[in-house]
Amino acid sequence: MIAVALAAGAVACLLPAARSHQPPTFTAPLDAAPRIKPYGVDKADFKEPFAQRASTSCSASACHGGGAVGKVGSEHTTWAREAFPAETSDPHAKAYSVLFNPVSVRMGKALGIKEPHKDKRCLTCHAVDSAKEPETRDQILSEGVGCGACHGPADKWISEHTLPSWKARSNQSKWTEFGFVPTKSLVARALNCASCHVGDGDRDMNHDFIAAGHPRLAFEPARFHNQPDYRTHWTEKSDALSFEVRLWVVGQAATLRAAANLLAERAARAVKNDQITPWPEFSGYSCYACHQTIGDPELRGSQSATSRPAGVPGWDVWSNAAVNVAANSCGLAFPGVILPELREVSLPAVEELRKLMESKRAPEPAEIVKKAKAAVVELDRWLAAMQAEEERGPGVVAKGTPEKIAHRLAKNALSGDRKQLADHDWDALAANYLGTAAMYHAAGGKDGTVSAWRESLANVAKELRFPFGTNSPVKFDRLKLNPIRDNFELLYKTTSIPEGK
Ligand code: HEC
Ligand code: HEC
Ligand code: HEC
Ligand code: HEC
Repeated sequence: MIAVALAAGAVACLLPAARSHQPPTFTAPLDAAPRIKPYGVDKADFKEPFAQRASTSCSASACHGGGAVGKVGSEHTTWAREAFPAETSDPHAKAYSVLFNPVSVRMGKALGIKEPHKDKRCLTCHAVDSAKEPETRDQILSEGVGCGACHGPADKWISEHTLPSWKARSNQSKWTEFGFVPTKSLVARALNCASCHVGDGDRDMNHDFIAAGHPRLAFEPARFHNQPDYRTHWTEKSDALSFEVRLWVVGQAATLRAAANLLAERAARAVKNDQITPWPEFSGYSCYACHQTIGDPELRGSQSATSRPAGVPGWDVWSNAAVNVAANSCGLAFPGVILPELREVSLPAVEELRKLMESKRAPEPAEIVKKAKAAVVELDRWLAAMQAEEERGPGVVAKGTPEKIAHRLAKNALSGDRKQLADHDWDALAANYLGTAAMYHAAGGKDGTVSAWRESLANVAKELRFPFGTNSPVKFDRLKLNPIRDNFELLYKTTSIPEGK
């Protein structure tokens, strides 16, 4: 999982639109501001949802079924599975067929699900469910995560999107009038990925599923976009550096937004005393807080500057550990975004939620609903501000930005005096590592200006990797934690450019 794509993908070097000089908005304090939501998140606001179309209906050769994999006009061909094995493919095209594999069958047995490929609990993320059109439902399901999963139900926009006027429409109008997910907005895109890769009100992959055999969901959009065997069917329009820096910042906000929203949904069900909703839900906590060898003092937090109370695992450490760096660095990625809650205290509502979740083993679900909803509002405001800036055409991210963010991430991984790790939890270290790796990649990787980091980064990765034949960080003790600390310290030093430069 931590084998980050260090290979540079083919990226078009088109310069984005020139920066406009509109004054930044969103400067009012949080409690005085109206509820602001980014567009493209949750469901489009229609009385009746629109029907899905089969992915094959997009595959005419004049539409998206051209013959050249990876080329404009060949999106369906690029997404679809081939008859012969290829080094790269789109995992989404096989998302339905994995519901027949031995892992799914075993999961089904353990969970009392007779046929996973017919069960809503699985189909909701592994396929596009079009209950609106019974005749085509089975075909659409069998196509797995097809076009409609990421671009929205096509029935409403299918004819419109071939007209010349379509291109002139704003992303927002495509969404509000047609339910077309504006994937060109990184904010809308990352939130859409997260609706399956983290979950939402209709998509819940909980600890019961994991204990039955489901892989853990650990989403980080920058890494997922660069997964070497994922054959994407598009070319990013902005320069590589701007794209990757922004995607990492947006990804941190979007992933945590999805996690807080999922927590609110789960807590709301627990309030209703819903018998099938476990509370507290274990998959929302750090896995390796519970799954570890008993008795090792290191694992109790003696390597952390800020250890948690005994017996209380950290709340969603995966998406919390580096988000403050993303918030503080937002101005580097999106210079027009000025929000008080990103600077003085980083994300105060999120901080309150975190505190409550980590105050006791089973916090009161009704309290959590309130705090988690407030955290979602706060994160939505941040995401909407970044989206508005995307819309204005935020220009090119300055060279040297990846170094600055990597420096902050290395600092974030360490305690104030840098003698210890800030948090020894595997998830916290992996989150800081993945961010730094994204910055390394953004700066050009081994051919870029930052090759000095390569070794320390590789050393951190080596210690984070699970031992051969295991699927968790077995014996994650001093012998691993000390070299991780040392290498973050090295990263901190090699990335240290005077701030303001
Ligand atoms: C919240 C969305 C969600 C739900 C619900 C869900 N899955 Fe998944 N599943 C995923 C994602 C995302 C992955 C890919 C995980 C990764 O690699 O990051 C995945 C991966 C898998 C895999 C591994 C696939 C492979 O290529 O090895 C299997 C098997 C699987 N899911 C089966 C199921 C079954 C069976 C159910 C229902 C009992 C289910 N899933 C419910 C999202 C979900
Ligand atoms: C996992 C999510 C996902 C799925 C599934 C998906 N897309 Fe996309 N698609 C994207 C993203 C992200 C982009 C890039 C942003 C953009 O250009 O809109 C994109 C871009 C595109 C583009 C623009 C390409 C370009 O270079 O400008 C087309 C056309 C497209 N997709 C068609 C399809 C078709 C047809 C299918 C089904 C065969 C499909 N997509 C399935 C996520 C997805
Ligand atoms: C409708 C739900 C859904 C959406 C939306 C979605 N995915 Fe997925 N994704 C899945 C499932 C399910 C799998 C597992 C497929 C399998 O292994 O068979 C998966 C697998 C993947 C994998 C492979 C993971 C691995 O371990 O190999 C990558 C990479 C990925 N998705 C990236 C993305 C990105 C990027 C986006 C947004 C542009 C996105 N996905 C949107 C459901 C979704
Ligand atoms: C609050 C503590 C706690 C947290 C947090 C937690 N688990 Fe568990 N997990 C348990 C307990 C207790 C069991 C049941 C052990 C048993 O009865 O075999 C279990 C069982 C499992 C099993 C099945 C093991 C087996 O041998 O049958 C897996 C796999 C698993 N957890 C993975 C995870 C992952 C991945 C995460 C993080 C997303 C996680 N757990 C988070 C406590 C926890």
